[in-house]
Amino acid sequence: MSQPDIFATLVRTTLPSAVHVETGAGGLPHVVIRNRHGYAEIYFHGAHVAAWRPSAAAAPVLWLSRESLFAANKPIRGGIPICFPWFGAHASEPTAPAHGFARVRPWTLIDAQEDRDGAVTVTFELTPDAAAPSPFWPHAFRATYRVTIGATLDLALQVQNTGTTPFTFEEALHSYFAVQNVRDVTVSGLEGAEYLNKVTAFSRVPPENAPIHFTGETDRIYLNTHATCTIHDPGKRRTIAIRKTGSDTTVVWNPWIDKAKAMPDFGDTEWPEMVCVETCNVNVHARTLGPGETHAMTATIDMRPL
Ligand code: BG6
Repeated sequence: MSQPDIFATLVRTTLPSAVHVETGAGGLPHVVIRNRHGYAEIYFHGAHVAAWRPSAAAAPVLWLSRESLFAANKPIRGGIPICFPWFGAHASEPTAPAHGFARVRPWTLIDAQEDRDGAVTVTFELTPDAAAPSPFWPHAFRATYRVTIGATLDLALQVQNTGTTPFTFEEALHSYFAVQNVRDVTVSGLEGAEYLNKVTAFSRVPPENAPIHFTGETDRIYLNTHATCTIHDPGKRRTIAIRKTGSDTTVVWNPWIDKAKAMPDFGDTEWPEMVCVETCNVNVHARTLGPGETHAMTATIDMRPL
């Protein structure tokens, strides 16, 4: 897409000087933010935060696969995909795309602001595709996604029911974090929560009362989670804290060896470099909105050197 075409269709606001629209990987347009707080790239495709590096960081905080596809009909592997309006496989339609359609649809940039501290907030919007409504979730909705690049990375996904009948949806900020070696990493904050273990057919596991260590394929939906999660990464000498509101579940995922090999857009040897800690409302914590109602879910990502 040429610059004038991008502005005509995807940009509906004026841009402060720290915000630029550029051509990213695969020719897909993205928003690039460079300010005193750091650097970020957000693709219109999926409103996908593909990179975030605070000024103080020695290395990127988000993980992005070197094998990621960048194509209009494929999700990006890494960064922060938005899963909406369902998570994982669709409940009844095996042909529906995994994790919903939001991550493979173009979002529109509707606002961009810079505050007096130099923090930049950009807001994207997604509404049903009038030309190709989803047969798998035929509801009237408006989703907005506010991303702030300040001392922390602040994310706010808001969903509104703009129709006349209630709907139920799942949502996830499927955040991939870069770690030195997942085998040396711990995740704290979920000690008191029971979880559904996707690796063993969603069996329910009682709270383990200990930080998470990674020793094999890990794919868990932690239930009733509201506490801050912290990734302790001795190899990169840093912690990454994820604070959240409006979210009742947390998914923790690492594919380990065999699953990584099975994914075409995930390098066979990349799995030790990442862990997903996902702020979400999924499974038994799917949300229902009546006509006119709105729900907001936020996550704040705070990287600190050790
Ligand atoms: C996680 C799920 O959130 O995403 C896993 O819990 C899934 O089950 C993973 O494998 C990746 O999904 P996808 O569709 O991006 O390959």
